[in-house]
Order: sequence, then C-alpha cells, then structure tokens
Amino acid sequence: MSAVGKKGRDGTTSSALRAAGVRVSYGDRTVLDGLELDITSGTVTAVVGPNGSGKSTLLKTLARLLRSAEGTVFLDGTAITSLPTAAVARRLAVLPQGPTAPGGLTVGELVEQGRYPHTGPLRMLRMQDHEAIRTALTLTDMTAYAARPLDSLSGGERQRAWIALALAQDTPTLLLDEPTTFLDIGHQLEVLELIRRLNRERGLTIVLVLHDLNQAARYAERLVVLDRGRIVADGVPRDVLTTALLAEVFGVRTHILADPESGAPLCLPYGVVGHD
Ligand SMILES: Nc1ncnc2c1ncn2[C@@H]1O[C@H](COP(=O)(O)OP(=O)(O)O)[C@@H](O)[C@H]1O
Ligand SMILES: [Mg+2]
Repeated sequence: MSAVGKKGRDGTTSSALRAAGVRVSYGDRTVLDGLELDITSGTVTAVVGPNGSGKSTLLKTLARLLRSAEGTVFLDGTAITSLPTAAVARRLAVLPQGPTAPGGLTVGELVEQGRYPHTGPLRMLRMQDHEAIRTALTLTDMTAYAARPLDSLSGGERQRAWIALALAQDTPTLLLDEPTTFLDIGHQLEVLELIRRLNRERGLTIVLVLHDLNQAARYAERLVVLDRGRIVADGVPRDVLTTALLAEVFGVRTHILADPESGAPLCLPYGVVGHD
C-alpha cells in the first residue's frame, strides 16, 4: 500500500479528497447543498449525524457512486469526474452501507474483485494480486471463510468480507459507511483497531461513518457532524462533542466525561431534550 504521510517532507499537507460546492439531489429532493469538505491525506475522519442527515449520500458522492448536480469532488487534486473508473478504483475504495452481492458468490470470489482495477482486461490475477487478497483476508480474520458463500455467513462475518474486498483494492484512500454495523463489540473494536493500524502504519486516508460517537471520538482525529445535509460542526473530538451540539443535533441531554483510556471525550446521554 502506498505510504501517504500526514505531512509531506516539506511539512505541507495535501488534500486526498475535496468536495467543493457539492449539490446532490434525489429527484427534486436536495440532500446536500453547497457542501464544502477537505480531507487531508493520511488522516482519519469520522462522519457522524442523525439518521437521514446525508452521511451515506456524502460518502457516495466522494466515491463518485453519486454524481453531484453542482460543484466538484477532487481526488488527489483532480476532478474525480475526469478520471477513468479504474483510475478512481486504484486510488479509492469504498464500503457502501448495506452492500449486496449476487447469490452464491464466495468470500474469496468477492475479495478477488478488489483486484480487478489492478489487472488487465483479461482479469488475470498475478502474484501481487494473490498476495493482496491473502493480506486482506488475514487482516479481517476471514481466511478460513474464503470458500464459503456470502449468503451462508452471519451479518458480522459478511461485513468483514466486504471490508476485505475494500482492503484488497489496496488504495491510499478508504471510505467506509458504518463498517461496524452488525458486528459484536469484539469485532467492532477489531475493525476500528485495524483502521487505526492502516492509518498509522501504512498512511491510509480514511473517512468512515460511525454511529457510536464515543468510538468516533476515540478512533478519529476529526469529527464531521452532519445535520439535514449541512456540516454543523467539524474539528477535533474534544471541540466538537459538546452538550450543546448533542442537544441541538441529536436531541439528547448528555454528560461529557473523559475516556479513562484515551482522554477522548466520552458522551453519556441521560435523557431526551424536552423531557425531564
Ligand atoms: N435513493 C434515494 N432516493 C430518494 N431519497 C433518498 C435516497 N437515498 C437517500 N435518500 C434520502 O436522503 C436523505 C439522506 O439519506 P442518507 O444519505 O442515506 O442519510 P444517512 O446515511 O445519514 O442516514 C434521507 O432523507 C433519505 O431518505
Ligand atoms: Mg447511511
């Protein structure tokens, strides 16, 4: 995997992904309007927000799975719409929320697809492709499941197979939409630790949607809070997770403590705004 540092040798930061004035609609319903977001190379950013706030729409737009009606997404400084599909797929992998695959597909066959952007038109796998598949299966603890059909797996195992697909793509940027959904707490932490390792050891740029604010605060250096399609807070977890923001955006009354493990802010919701 390519090593993209947080800062280049000259101490400057570079942009891995940038949304500039992006507007995205479904039919006549506009979800994102004039959205601005710049993701620095080599960082971990968590996108949080209530259901329906536009998190998945934002991630899909950054990954070019959705086209913006206005504005531009830049991938490594180039307008993403001007890049060939395979070139995008070599630079950016995305795990969509609730992905589906054709029936009967095995874990190994799914993960193999992550290599197609790297292979030629005949899709012949070379040594480095097999190596990337092996690594992706090992990192997600899925090696023993390679021959199993996806539809025979538990929700958590299936989720890890999809993460393995994204990892096999071996891209410098990874977008993950709720990668911990369906996972038990042990596997949630395994995935989050893996994300941290990919970032620290291999310099990957990671943007992930998380529901658990405390996990977001612990594993991401930057939180972007979406509410009704607008970014209402953006910064380090300590600055973003305030009682006022949680009341305003999530409608909950919260104590903010310090995570005894990491010092990150820890939210303890105790009620709903408007109810005593
Ligand atoms: N394919 C679609 N067609 C119409 N509306 C959609 C579609 N996908 C999402 N939406 C709407 O767009 C808004 C944002 O959805 P989404 O980005 O999925 O939010 P989140 O991921 O934060 O829950 C919601 O109101 C949702 O109902
Ligand atoms: Mg979503």
